[in-house]
Amino acid sequence: MTEILLLNGPNLNLLGTREPAIYGAVTLAEIEKRVTVRADSYKVGVRALHSNHEGALIDALHDARTWAAGVLLNAGAYTHTSVALRDAITTIGLPTIEVHLSNIHARESFRHVSLIAPVCVGQVSGFGWYSYIMAVDGLINHLGLLP
Ligand code: DQA
Repeated sequence: MTEILLLNGPNLNLLGTREPAIYGAVTLAEIEKRVTVRADSYKVGVRALHSNHEGALIDALHDARTWAAGVLLNAGAYTHTSVALRDAITTIGLPTIEVHLSNIHARESFRHVSLIAPVCVGQVSGFGWYSYIMAVDGLINHLGLLP
């Protein structure tokens, strides 16, 4: 079975209680479940992982090289700061979709820049938890696996 990695970065483990006016009330566990159900409808498996640590996110991307067909990545604040994460995406060479719950372009100016966007297939930003559903559909379509 084709599998993809759903990787979430810093502070996203607190979704549900973290600034719900910005990020919504759905927990990360629930998002992981919804993505898994959606991918399963296309017969694609999901391995979900969260870390607050930049190095652990990089390790997860390296590991995905050996089993994943692609990656859904919400890198949280590392989106705006991490050259290392960007390099990890180019290093593994897997198609990666950048995901954000909030519309990063409508927020503070430091969030307008994504260091990872230029090395991702595309970016989904601003649709709350549904950004992940749009992203998983986008990735599976990119992989040629949408019916
Ligand atoms: C976020 C947007 C980032 O700017 C922020 O640092 C996050 C969450 C989002 O999903 O909207 O942690 O990635």
